[in-house]
Amino acid sequence: MAADAETDFEALFAAAARVQPLAYAPYSRFKVGAAIRDEHGAIHDGCNVENAAYPSGSCAEQGAISAMIAGGGSRITAILVLGEGDVLVTPCGACRQRIREFASADTPVAIAGPGGIRTMFTLAELLPASFGPDNLRA
Ligand code: THU
Repeated sequence: MAADAETDFEALFAAAARVQPLAYAPYSRFKVGAAIRDEHGAIHDGCNVENAAYPSGSCAEQGAISAMIAGGGSRITAILVLGEGDVLVTPCGACRQRIREFASADTPVAIAGPGGIRTMFTLAELLPASFGPDNLRA
């Protein structure tokens, strides 16, 4: 990995680690942080926010995307998801589609745990043959 890319992901990890403890997850007790780098180089973060009416909760990635849009970004150049425990916390299906709206097939999706990045995917690996804005223009 190039030095720039390493720096990139270190900053994303730090942002996700800052917000993960702030997650509101009293039902699952599973706190997630996410951080996005946008096309301007700015970082936006988010955490999961659950609800007593369970389906009304939102994922960390969703919060980070909202922060990106509200912050003036419109493209995801990299995203990192930070979960707890030993298993890989990959984005849920709905969040893969949400990321798809603002990212490219080769956009890196870093999956991290408490100790750092565990593995990297491209968006196309997580959501192959996806449907996106271009399909509507066809
Ligand atoms: N969750 C996320 O925020 N992002 C993911 O990538 C996976 C799951 C949240 C949703 C819910 O609040 C909790 O983790 C347990 O599923």
